[in-house]
Parts: sequence; structure tokens; C-alpha cells
Amino acid sequence: MFDFKPDADCPKAETYRQLQQAAAALTEGEPDPVANMANVAALLGDFLPDLNWAGFYRVVDGELVLGPFVGRPACIRIPFGKGVCGTAAADGETQLVEDVHAFPGHIACDSETNSELVVPVKRNGTVIAVIDLDSPSLARFDNEDREGIEGLAEIISGRI
Ligand code: SME
Repeated sequence: MFDFKPDADCPKAETYRQLQQAAAALTEGEPDPVANMANVAALLGDFLPDLNWAGFYRVVDGELVLGPFVGRPACIRIPFGKGVCGTAAADGETQLVEDVHAFPGHIACDSETNSELVVPVKRNGTVIAVIDLDSPSLARFDNEDREGIEGLAEIISGRI
């Protein structure tokens, strides 16, 4: 049995350290990308409070295709450059959006979502997927979240 749980009430940086450690341990030596993305999505849901969706979109034949996630059913295909995820994939840059309703072209998969963090996962400089976190709270994500998820993306980039 795997029993990775965040310590209650620990500082955000420590939560991300524990999340990254758990993700590294769970994916080590496992070559199946779907299994690894599924476990990392489950960890995101377990470790991070105040989310309504957390998971992956993968780059497949030049567009983003839904991958493993926790949350409600979501849009399946997102073109590069469209919405928050497509912008992160096209630019290769993290998108930290305090209010998705103010983001031009935001794709509303879930009307509950108010803020969003999308981090590209790169292998050898090429975007292979994005990690998408959605929250019902406005301005849920800050630079500590960005750094924590960017660190996670680096850890798993060779394992998904
Ligand atoms: N809101 C995202 C689409 C993905 S869902 O939130 C899961 C976007 O604008 O890219």
C-alpha cells in the first residue's frame, strides 16, 4: 500500500517538497507513462487544497489531448494557442491566471473554476504535456505554487 500524505498545516514550500518526493518515489523505475501520470494526478489531488481539477494534457500530433486527472470530466482536445493550457503549450511558459474569466479565450470546462495554473512539462526543450490545476477560488495560486509545480514537472519529465 502507498501511504503518501501531506503533513497537516505545513508551509506551502514543505508541502511541495513532500509532493515532489512522493512523485519521484512513485514513478521511479516505472516505464508506463499513463500509470505515472495517474499516480501524480492522484498526489496533486491529495496534497493540494482548494482544487476542483488537477491533471495532465499530453501533446499528441500537435494538439493537447486529455490525460489522467482528478476532477470532473473535461474537454478532450485543446489546440495549441487556445485557452490557458494551449497558451502554456504553445509558449512553453507557465500560465498563472488569477481570474480565468479575464483570460482571453479561456476554455470553461467547469463553470466552478475561477483561477488556474498551467505548467508545461518539457523533455529536451520540447513541450510534451502540461500539468493543469484549477481552483474554485480567485487567485488561488502564487509563485510558490508555480515553483512547486515547475519542480514537479522537471522530476517527472522523463517518466511520462
Ligand atoms: N480551462 C482550461 C481547459 C482545461 S480544463 O480547465 C480542465 C483552459 O482554458 O485551457
